[in-house]
Amino acid sequence: RMINEISGITLMERSLKEMLKVKEVMIVPGDSDDSPWVKEELGRAAIQSMKPYVGTDTVIAVTGGTTMSAVAGMLTPDFATPETLFVPARGGIGEDVQNQANTICSTMALKSGARHRVLYVPDQVSREVYETITKEPAIKEVMSLITSADLVLHGIGDAHTMAKRRNTSEEHFRTISYGQAVGEAFGYYFDVEGNIVHKVKTIGLQLKDLSDVPNVFAVAGGHSKAQAIRAYFKGAPQTSSTLITDEGVAKELLKG
Ligand code: BG6
Repeated sequence: RMINEISGITLMERSLKEMLKVKEVMIVPGDSDDSPWVKEELGRAAIQSMKPYVGTDTVIAVTGGTTMSAVAGMLTPDFATPETLFVPARGGIGEDVQNQANTICSTMALKSGARHRVLYVPDQVSREVYETITKEPAIKEVMSLITSADLVLHGIGDAHTMAKRRNTSEEHFRTISYGQAVGEAFGYYFDVEGNIVHKVKTIGLQLKDLSDVPNVFAVAGGHSKAQAIRAYFKGAPQTSSTLITDEGVAKELLKG
């Protein structure tokens, strides 16, 4: 029985890899929408698949979210070296502090004995302030670390859930709804075809930068994220991406 279950998952991983056209898929048993501990398993699996790519001086850019927070919680000192560096992928995108990339990076560094940098950019700033901030040497330095990241680790969210969770303005909320966005990652909102219908304006990693990153790890599970995952991989460069997901959403995705 155990063997059947394992090979069932292996088959799903293969089909999903083909369907989404990603480099690799890793599926953990269960559904993180129904059982909260599955998120920890996602975290464990993500760490396991990233580990071979982490060496001295590796720069890891990380997004926010509850899934990333679960990854952070599972990290141990053998994951990194003291020179490994965690940086937030993008500046403020409206998340509460516990879900922010800055917070998650600092936890990751603490738990793995590595280093981290922060990127503090206010959420809503005028053009002038934005331009001044991005000229600050400290900010510029973190930005160049981000764009030279060896590894990107990110979550994928349901568009509506994310727009609600962030303090999205009414105007942007309307753009997201009228555009029929279903998926979100890095502050980009995608419709079912993978078109970008809205983008949160902030500094740091832009979607087009992803193609230059050798290894990208997307971690997202729970049956409610099926449309989001499908949309995201239609819109984003997939060939360097590994998807770490759960059985719940994998089944939903493979249903078509
Ligand atoms: C956000 C990330 O913080 O978390 C997004 O910037 C991602 O890329 C989202 O879509 C996912 O959140 P969660 O809580 O579902 O893991």
